[in-house]
Amino acid sequence: MHILVTGGAGYIGSHTCLELINSGYQVVVVDNLDNSKEESLRRVERITGGSIEFHKLDLLNIEPLDALFSQRRFDAVIHFAGLKAVSESVQAPLRYYHNNITGTLNLCNAMCRHGIRNFVFSSSATVYGDPEAVPIREDAPLKTTNPYGRTKLVIEDILKDLHVSDSRWNIVLLRYFNPVGAHEGGEIGEDPNDVPNNLFPYITQVGIGKLDKLLVFGGDYPTIDGTGVRDYIHVVDLAIGHIRAMEKLKTGPGLAVYNLGTGVGYSVLQVITAFEETTQVAIPYEIVGRRPGDVAVCYAEPGLAEKELGWRAQRGLKQMCADGWRWQKNNPDGFR
Ligand code: NAD
Ligand code: WQD
Repeated sequence: MHILVTGGAGYIGSHTCLELINSGYQVVVVDNLDNSKEESLRRVERITGGSIEFHKLDLLNIEPLDALFSQRRFDAVIHFAGLKAVSESVQAPLRYYHNNITGTLNLCNAMCRHGIRNFVFSSSATVYGDPEAVPIREDAPLKTTNPYGRTKLVIEDILKDLHVSDSRWNIVLLRYFNPVGAHEGGEIGEDPNDVPNNLFPYITQVGIGKLDKLLVFGGDYPTIDGTGVRDYIHVVDLAIGHIRAMEKLKTGPGLAVYNLGTGVGYSVLQVITAFEETTQVAIPYEIVGRRPGDVAVCYAEPGLAEKELGWRAQRGLKQMCADGWRWQKNNPDGFR
């Protein structure tokens, strides 16, 4: 089967390409390299012994995208391409709406023109906003607090409408919780362009001495130790979730929505302790005020994905720390 992977050079995309190739899929990647390097794909080729056809292409440019669909017959599309930094989306909402929503519209239009109707979309737990109850089920109320999250909600609605308009579409919406870690070989991983916004890459950069100390945002949440609780999921487990979603598409599911999380929440201080114990590297930190927009607790009810996709996260917090650290230690400057 031939799969088009948008945003495939990025963090989750590159790990998913690896699992796709290992599962026997033919992979074509389009990416504008706005937040990634082509080197990630070359490393995936090295690890797997497979090959990836790469097109440096922006989803905002319709013609080259359409030309690619004319040249190649894809069985399905996995759509990772998008901008993902919450704080940046507050500063530059139009850029986020345009890139994420127009990019998706262009992609769906090209698929319509070429009769491709199998689609997997990267949604996010951010669509649950501040959840009313945990663990969060897929039928929980949807609401979000920032432009990035709104792009995900709008795209989910667009895809639901598309399925209503033409039931031949098969669409799987995957709501990721907090993807962390790296492939166990330490050759591919998360490579933020600037100072990381997210907890895990921040910790690993403190670990190698690039950053002085971690600022822990909020010590007064109603949680086990006052710090925020999240559902961290190993990126390899997440990538494997996409393989299960591809298998689901073959059964003609119509529109389906799944949480991809572990179902277990850890606090920031628990993550720091797990990292220090696993790597024997000290992480100096200071507890400061809350980060605007953060929620106290967020973790998934992952049972639906287990029941309908046969998928369940296998890798625990210590493995996330060990694998993320190996990547960071071996590649202090990422893919550069
Ligand atoms: P990433 O930035 O590493 O990967 C996204 C890729 O898309 C990048 O390689 C970027 O260059 C590319 N891209 C962006 N806009 C493009 C465009 N217009 N045309 C072509 N390529 C474009 O991010 P990631 O962490 O791998 O996330 C992948 C997807 O998963 C995103 O849609 C993100 O919103 C979603 N997601 C991520 C997380 C997370 O915490 N990492 C959580 C939930 C959902
Ligand atoms: C985790 C915890 C922070 C950094 C974000 C997006 C979400 C999704 C995943 C894309 C929180 C604390 C963090 C730091 C800290 N992305 N923290 N110091 O905020 O749960 O989710 O990424 O869809 O949409 O919002 O992840 O890693 O930023 O934070 O104390 O320097 O770590 O307050 O409790 P978050 P995160």
